[in-house]
Amino acid sequence: MAIRRALAEWRIGIVGLGYVGLTTAAVLAYHGVKVTGVDVDAAKVEAINRGEAPIYEPGLNKLLREAIERGTLYATTSYAPLREADIIFITVGTPSLSDGSINLGYVFDAAEKLADALAASTAEYPVVAVKSTVVPGTTRRVAGIIEEQTGLHPGRDFGAASNPEFLREGRAVEDTLNPSRVVIGGIEPRSASQLKEFWQSFYQRLGTNPPILVVDNPETAEMIKYASNAFLAMKISFANMLARICEKITGCDIVEVVKGMARDPRINPAFLGAGLGYGGSCFPKDVKALTAHARSLCVEPRLLEAIDWVNETQPHHIAKRLEELLNTLRGKTVTILGAAFKPDTDDVRESRALALAKILAERGARVRIHDPNPKALENAKRTLGPIAEYTTSMEEALRGADAAVIATDWEHYKSLNPALYTRLMRRPLLFDARRIYDPQTMKKAGVEYHAVGLGGDPK
Ligand code: UGA
Repeated sequence: MAIRRALAEWRIGIVGLGYVGLTTAAVLAYHGVKVTGVDVDAAKVEAINRGEAPIYEPGLNKLLREAIERGTLYATTSYAPLREADIIFITVGTPSLSDGSINLGYVFDAAEKLADALAASTAEYPVVAVKSTVVPGTTRRVAGIIEEQTGLHPGRDFGAASNPEFLREGRAVEDTLNPSRVVIGGIEPRSASQLKEFWQSFYQRLGTNPPILVVDNPETAEMIKYASNAFLAMKISFANMLARICEKITGCDIVEVVKGMARDPRINPAFLGAGLGYGGSCFPKDVKALTAHARSLCVEPRLLEAIDWVNETQPHHIAKRLEELLNTLRGKTVTILGAAFKPDTDDVRESRALALAKILAERGARVRIHDPNPKALENAKRTLGPIAEYTTSMEEALRGADAAVIATDWEHYKSLNPALYTRLMRRPLLFDARRIYDPQTMKKAGVEYHAVGLGGDPK
């Protein structure tokens, strides 16, 4: 029987206070749920308890500060307080191993450390919910680890479920408040119904009421997460593959092609934006992990491999196009506009802009990197080091450059006056690798405009 209770009566534990964990913690606690957050990083825990978010995410600081002031959120390095939790979300990182497969070490480590708290649990039926992106079977292994450590029986003494997360960086708060769906797969019905009850009462309070999908088992829920990310990544790689073809056809333009495709109600134009490829902490890692998992199950993952191949080669493809336009890259000053893996973030993990910078530098170009976000630029500098120059000033970035590449589709670049390129650059060659400008407007303004997915002008 599901227990009916008011939102404020739930005790929630969250293990791993990164993007997903901290955002979930702050959003829940802001709305009155009692949350204990656990992280191994003592400095991070202290910052959170001071009400300072260690990551940049719009709206997060305000929610966190208020939750800390109200006393609904408390962060700690100790797992012991989790004995009071009705639901414990695992939101630790799942990085890649060198062969692309997933490193589940942090998830299993969290399960081991949780065991004592579960053995001493004061909750009627504590449920461990895995939110980290994990390959199918992981949630069940988590339950197994806890069983081994404590002798407790999963499904009788404690529950376990997969409850994957679909939030986007830069919109983490918005997506947590109003998700496209909540997916739950329990090891048995009680785990799933307890999670469902919690999320239902939370979203009822908010009035957002997203669809809550309870699937038969954790494996299906775990697979839904990979399937969603791999599909979105496939759309991007598909657009980039088409873009390479369009570039060879006089007058052909991928942007118009996608617009034409999207008139078919079966084709959704979202994530069909051709560019430098996808970056960030999710798509590249998740496509590789699903590929490795398919292989481990003796499934030939050709389509998944192709998604990754297009993405990995896209910065090389753009570098080659620049080389053709400039005759050589050796000694040429190339400005990369944008370092972040996408706009509105300071995150440069797997950023395609940085991949491009590396290739250009290797081929002898003098590379300058600009980003409107000083923290993104700092992160780029830390990642790439002295192979490039770094500036937040457009003037400095463009002055005397032989070419510039739009690598991140920041609003900041969209609103620039094209005269800036013609006035400051030695040669106003602009390669729009994110398709943010109208080709005709740029050409009329005297910019030597080239772009991903854009065939040459008809003679
Ligand atoms: C992605 C998913 O969108 C989320 O639903 C998911 O929860 C998250 O991964 C995750 O697994 O945690 P995120 O990594 O924040 O979210 O970034 P996106 O906004 O999806 O963008 C990913 C990359 O694709 C960016 O580099 C972006 O520039 C690129 N992209 C996106 C394109 O190249 N073309 C497009 O049309 C769209």
